[in-house]
This record gives sequence, structure tokens and C-alpha cells, in this order.
Amino acid sequence: MKIQQNISLKNFNTFGIDVKAKNYVSVQNLEELKEVLRLSDFSEKFILSGGSNMLLTKDVEQLVVHLNCKGKEIISKNDEVVFVKVAAGENWHDFVLWCIENDFGGIENLSLIPGNVGTCPIQNIGAYGVEVKDVITEVEAMHSKTGEIRVFTNEECTFGYRNSIFKNELKNQFIITNVIFRLSTKNHQTKISYGAIQQKLEKNKTSENPTIKNISDAVIAIRQSKLPDPKEIGNSGSFFKNPVVSREQFLKIQKDFPTMPFYEVSETETKIPAGWLIETAEYKGKRFGDAGVHTKQALVLVNYGNATGKEIFELAQKIQKIVLEKFSISLEMEVNIY
Ligand code: EPU
Repeated sequence: MKIQQNISLKNFNTFGIDVKAKNYVSVQNLEELKEVLRLSDFSEKFILSGGSNMLLTKDVEQLVVHLNCKGKEIISKNDEVVFVKVAAGENWHDFVLWCIENDFGGIENLSLIPGNVGTCPIQNIGAYGVEVKDVITEVEAMHSKTGEIRVFTNEECTFGYRNSIFKNELKNQFIITNVIFRLSTKNHQTKISYGAIQQKLEKNKTSENPTIKNISDAVIAIRQSKLPDPKEIGNSGSFFKNPVVSREQFLKIQKDFPTMPFYEVSETETKIPAGWLIETAEYKGKRFGDAGVHTKQALVLVNYGNATGKEIFELAQKIQKIVLEKFSISLEMEVNIY
């Protein structure tokens, strides 16, 4: 374990923002992590995982602790379910593919989401009708000051839409070290009601009793057709959350835009796709220097090469302003800003 100076973080954040860590250390296991947390020279630490849900707008002054703990362990398995414990530093999509290979069901709809296993509970990643909270039984985390390990049950994580206790009351207090998943080994409860999945399965001629592999393949194809690959164009997936508005406000907007897509959340609340709001505000595909709005999905901001984090952030603020002016809706950023 070695602390290095002036390390570029460009390859460690999916936006590909070229900022520097004044001090940087990569940790491979929990003993190393505990040791680093004890270092009194660096009172403040910046925990870096897959770097897929953050926008870095400046050099990082704190010690950057890069979590690279790996490992997957089957805790128990029978002919219905399997419990798997996965280390935080494992790549999320590699884990999904490993589950497909082993015929473990439950996360096939979450294929190709960037990031690592350790960060999936923080924002409760979700796509195509599935959220990771549906399959998480426990989250193990280390207290960032004391180094003590605490186990959170699913309930204790207080998961919500792109939300959990780790983004709220316990923000920056715990470092997730392992996640325990409960997956099916037989009679997989597949979720294919999402329109785009149905269409893709039909096109692939796999819509009759699709396997989890068929579903994963369909999701991968859908994502590849709409969402930019961070290896080619820097991005952080959805930049904003889909806003939830009152029924009254929804009806008012719908009057002017009768074809607006929406999802009923409850009798009094409706969710409106932020991508649609941004597209309707004529920002889809807009580009300012190397900072832009993706051409195929307006919810995704992109770095075409050498954009700074500040430029992307300014674009995000412009979008918030125009959506507020046009629809009286405040878009909330989903990505963490540093
Ligand atoms: N839409 C537009 N213009 C756009 C983008 C979307 O009009 O530029 C419309 C679509 O036509 C559709 C609706 O908005 O009617 C919803 O679009 P989509 O199915 O692409 O999903 P989304 O609501 O924009 C959410 C998640 C995605 C996830 C998809 C699929 C959030 C913030 N985002 O996006 O998650 O992949 O659903 O389940 O909830 C991510 O979090 O990084 C992410 C990609």
C-alpha cells in the first residue's frame, strides 16, 4: 500500500474528467482500508469506487482512497435461492454476467449499468422495472472514523427511488465493503413488462419464456442503442432524477402537452421523465464546447473529450433553469457533485 502524489483521476471517473488527487491510495482489502482510515496525517478522506455517479469539478484535496477490494462468495445455496456475498470493488456488470453464467436470477434487468457493487446500494440503482433493493438482503459497511464493521439489513438501508440511508442520514459516515444478494436458482421471476424489453425479445424471437440470458441480452442491446458507452464518451448515466409532481401540476402541463409520457406514483403524485422535459425544452443534443446533452437520451450529459467538470456542471444548471422556467419543475441532480 503506497500513497502516491498528484495522480490524475481521469481514468477513475466515467465522465473522464481530468482532475488530480493531491494524495491517492488504492486499497485491496479490509485490513488496508482500516489502516488507511487510521492515518492521522490525512484527517479527511475521499472514497472513490467505480466513479460512475460523480462529477469532479476540481482537484481533490483530501486523500483519495480507491476501493479495489475484490471477491465473490456463495454463502448458501439450495434449489430455490442462493445468497452471494460480493466485495465492494467488483465491477457491477461483471457480477451480473457471472450471475447469468451461473443461472442466478434477479439482476438481469440491471445489465450494463456502470459502476461497482459497493455503490449500487447507495443510490439503489434501477432500470427496466427492477431496483437493486429487490435483491439485497444485507449491506456490510465500515465506519469511516472508527473502522468498525456494521451490517445493515435491507430495511435499515431505507431504500427509495435512487435513494438510501447512505445518501442521507449516514452520508459519508460508512464505506460499503460487501453486499449480500438473494438470487433465484430456479423458477426465475422475470420482469419483462417494460415496453422496450418486450419489443427487443420479440425481435430476437425469445419472447416465449425468455431465459435470464435472453433478458440480459435484450437489456444490453437497448442500453447500447440509447446510452453512450463511458469508454467512448464520458458520462454518468442519468444526470437528473425523474421529478415527481402533484396531480394538479401534472394536469396543467398535460393540457399544453397531451402526448407527454408519465408514470402514476400515487393518486396524488405523478412522475414525469426528465429526459422528455429536457428534450421539450430543446436541449437534447445541445453542445457547448466538449460538454453536451446526449443526442439519443436527453437525461444523460456527456463529455466529448476535454470538458471540465465545471463546464458540465454549468450545463446542468442551465438545464435546471430552462426546465424551471418552462414547466415550473426543479430538476434534482442524481449525480454527486464534488
Ligand atoms: N424521453 C424523451 N426524450 C429523451 C429521453 C426520454 O422524450 O431524450 C422519454 C421516452 O420517450 C420515454 C420516457 O421519456 O417515454 C422514459 O425514457 P426511458 O425509458 O429512456 O427512461 P428514463 O426515465 O429516461 C430511467 C432511469 C434510467 C433507466 C431507464 C430504464 C432514472 C433517473 N433513470 O430513465 O437509469 O435505465 O429508466 O429503466 O430513473 C441511470 O440511472 O443512470 C439510468 C440510465
